[in-house]
Amino acid sequence: MTHVVTENCIKCKYMDCVTVCPVDCFYEGETMLVIHPDECIDCGVCAPECPAQAIRSDMDGELDGWIAFNLRHASQWPNIQTKGVPPADASVWDGRPGKLLDVFGVMNPAET
Ligand code: F3S
Repeated sequence: MTHVVTENCIKCKYMDCVTVCPVDCFYEGETMLVIHPDECIDCGVCAPECPAQAIRSDMDGELDGWIAFNLRHASQWPNIQTKGVPPADASVWDGRPGKLLDVFGVMNPAET
């Protein structure tokens, strides 16, 4: 079992999640973070810390695409252990639909 980062992190990237992860399993892309599903211990402490409510448990269902997305990009992006500066316009993007398509050019996260 794992938690994964989902679409609403894109362009919000608040990074509060990083400060509480006990196993440092977050990885940083240009516009978002992901969790390495094989490193996550499923403690769940990160989920309530995310202002964008972008972190979900794989037990929530219908997250297969996001599990694949997190696994793939965690293997490509650098590890992050310290909170950086969120985008100045993060709040503008919070809750906007279509961010996966805008940034990654796909409708299904499994296709990235
Ligand atoms: Fe993203 Fe939320 Fe972390 S917006 S960077 S998952 S605190």
